[in-house]
Amino acid sequence: MNFRKPITMHRLRQMHAAGEKIAMLTCYDATFAHVLDEAGVDVLLVGDSLGTVLQGHPTTLPVSIDDMIYHTASVARGNHTAWLIADMPFGSYQDSESAIENGVRLMQAGAHMVKLEGGGWTTPIVQRLVERGIPVCGHLGFTPQSVHALGGYRVQGREESAANQMRRHAEELVAAGAGLLVLEMVPAALAQDLTKTLSVPVIGIGAGVGCSGQVLVLHDMLGLSRGKTPRFVRNFLEGTSSIGGAVRQYVTQVKASQFPDDAVHAF
Ligand code: KIV
Repeated sequence: MNFRKPITMHRLRQMHAAGEKIAMLTCYDATFAHVLDEAGVDVLLVGDSLGTVLQGHPTTLPVSIDDMIYHTASVARGNHTAWLIADMPFGSYQDSESAIENGVRLMQAGAHMVKLEGGGWTTPIVQRLVERGIPVCGHLGFTPQSVHALGGYRVQGREESAANQMRRHAEELVAAGAGLLVLEMVPAALAQDLTKTLSVPVIGIGAGVGCSGQVLVLHDMLGLSRGKTPRFVRNFLEGTSSIGGAVRQYVTQVKASQFPDDAVHAF
């Protein structure tokens, strides 16, 4: 039985300010939502990674808004206390009007916040969503919906000009009202620096231990994903006898800054 108070945006900001690490995992159905919530995961992300891990596509590009609504509603039914973020899929936020329409549908399905990828062109869209009462999480660094434009799965922000642009985009997103930021496959030093300077929590995936918290794809951290495992992943099921135990290990290690180990997992 989970007796913790529901996690709110206010609580996540307090955790960021106090240096208390935030544990986030992707989640796609009610059963896992219950397991993750009970294990103390602070934030559940209904990621469009469901396109690869559930649907078997090579990328997240084919995921539709209806897919996201179905899985968000499922997760919302199993979750009681975690903060619930739903990804806006590729093509669902090309302009403010469609972003608002699709953001409303995700919130009505049970999301507390929506996440969208990219900086620069997304800033006015984020501002419109926030004005309409739709909390937004930004996503910078490697953004999987742009995998073809980025030329594959590559670390982003290594060169000074790219790092400066990422910093500018992050600051603009926060000024537009984004309440949270995911940084994916970013050099650890850059991610740590952004975490120190931005007023909102920064959640890393392949971005080093210096972020406000960590996120992994559930199937990756349970060792279930097919193909080559990214360097930033650890299989938490190894050495434990249950999924609940693996997730509790993840939460404990994130909270204690033991995961990620920058000597092994960072860029
Ligand atoms: O879709 C997803 O799972 C994500 C995470 C990789 C952050 O966006």
